[in-house]
Amino acid sequence: MYVCLCNGVTDREVKESIQQGATTLRELYQELNVGSQCGKCCQCAKKILNNELLQI
Ligand code: FES
Repeated sequence: MYVCLCNGVTDREVKESIQQGATTLRELYQELNVGSQCGKCCQCAKKILNNELLQI
């Protein structure tokens, strides 16, 4: 599923990035550009981030 439509970023890419060490939205932004345009994906990305961090 797409998390960020503006940049074509999928939940899979977000999860991979978290598994490789990203722990904040800022790091996801730096790595994948999530939230760099309209910002509508920030909440969704944050939700995935929190869920994934709980599982690590
Ligand atoms: Fe991510 Fe627009 S959907 S910046």
